[in-house]
Amino acid sequence: MKIIQAIINPYALDNVREALSELGEFGMTATEVKGYGRQKGHTETYRGTEYEISYVPKIMIEIAASDDQVDDIVQCIIGGAKSEKIGAGKIFILPLEEVVRVRTSETGDSAI
Ligand SMILES: Nc1ncnc2c1ncn2[C@@H]1O[C@H](COP(=O)(O)OP(=O)(O)OP(=O)(O)O)[C@@H](O)[C@H]1O
Ligand SMILES: [Mg+2]
Repeated sequence: MKIIQAIINPYALDNVREALSELGEFGMTATEVKGYGRQKGHTETYRGTEYEISYVPKIMIEIAASDDQVDDIVQCIIGGAKSEKIGAGKIFILPLEEVVRVRTSETGDSAI
């Protein structure tokens, strides 16, 4: 199992959710975050505001997935969030040791 952690532009969230819902039923967590990538010193624009050097508002989505779902989910996120502009996002894929579904005490893949 993996955790897919994607940091995307806030306005791309609905697109990404829509693309994912066509793929299947996935739980996800979305968190408001701020960050920056490689363009320290260059400007990035969000809703008409220019952010220089410091942090830009982003959304981090986290999805726990079985190994065989990871590629499809990543493609969905790219499809929903891709842009020609800098700052479109970054996806990290982390190993996930265990999942426990509280209501049923199921563990592993079937708890996702
Ligand atoms: N190396 C990193 N470590 C942690 N978070 C990162 C890293 N790179 C990017 N991020 C996060 O992802 C967000 C989006 O990154 P961004 O798309 O700007 O990456 P980039 O490598 O600069 O690509 P681009 O050249 O397309 O802008 C950042 O605002 C930051 O929150
Ligand atoms: Mg960048």
